[in-house]
Amino acid sequence: MAVRQDTIWERFLSPVMRLLIDEEGLRRYADSIDWEKEGDRFRRDDVIIPSYYSSQNFHGITGGYLTYNAAVSYDPITQYVVPPNETIVRQALIDAVKVKPRRILDLGCGTGSTTLMLKRAFPEAEVIGLDLSPYMLVRAEDKARNSGLEIVWRHGNAEKTSFRDATFDLVTASLLFHETPNEVSLAILQESFRLLVTGGQVLILDGNQKTLRQLEWLNDVFEEPYIREYAAGSIEANMGAAGFEAVRSQDVWWINQVTGGVKPIATENVRRYTPTSVDNNDLEGLGSPAFGIIA
Ligand SMILES: C[S@@+](CC[C@H](N)C(=O)[O-])C[C@H]1O[C@@H](n2cnc3c(N)ncnc32)[C@H](O)[C@@H]1O
Repeated sequence: MAVRQDTIWERFLSPVMRLLIDEEGLRRYADSIDWEKEGDRFRRDDVIIPSYYSSQNFHGITGGYLTYNAAVSYDPITQYVVPPNETIVRQALIDAVKVKPRRILDLGCGTGSTTLMLKRAFPEAEVIGLDLSPYMLVRAEDKARNSGLEIVWRHGNAEKTSFRDATFDLVTASLLFHETPNEVSLAILQESFRLLVTGGQVLILDGNQKTLRQLEWLNDVFEEPYIREYAAGSIEANMGAAGFEAVRSQDVWWINQVTGGVKPIATENVRRYTPTSVDNNDLEGLGSPAFGIIA
């Protein structure tokens, strides 16, 4: 486990946050749940926890997301650290949806804040939230139950899920990529590409990479082990490298961005239509312009 850093969070913000948060209420909530027993309902033996994840603290929490403390404290803190307002920022991802999704996968869903909004926005769609932390899933399930929303919560690694090819119309991830090394972000986008149907959409909501590059000090605010690597990279370039087209980013209140892409029609096996002067009575052997099917 990495040694705790002396971040601005540790020195200044954490004590202020303590004043804003109902610590007693959180302790009561934490004590009301048997986290190991509830976590075991989600934990899958075939999920291998990657070392980038288990070897680091996130947000100053020793043990990172593999402790129930992360699940209990995540929402009360996040509401104050996503300006101007957490719901407005998450809504930008929902507003960027261009497909009519029948099945949605929210990767690194955490406590499910965006997942719940997706289900509310697309009540007919089957919505699945996937996360590496069983504790985050316990909290997410609790929130969905309290909101009367039917969502499937799944323990898994977004780099390599066990879903079949072309299962989803929409794959999303919010606030995940600033917490993963660049090669993991790329692997997650490649996996998203595999999971999407042709014409399906991927949407990533996260910190604004341009802003983070300009305001170096922002990278020191929280204990985020991969934030510099994230700021130096480009989600757009990774999306392109994963095979997505129509890749575009939109600033969200300057500090965040939503980046989207579409899985294009595969072209490598489509025979090109080349108009030739053929005998119209002899169509045998001519490729269909639309599907490359032999007539
Ligand atoms: C900062 S939280 C974001 C949670 C949620 N999406 C949100 O918007 O609040 C990052 C989440 O990603 C999860 N995570 C990190 N790497 C992952 C991976 N490879 N596969 C699945 N989940 C992952 C963590 O467990 C954590 O719950």
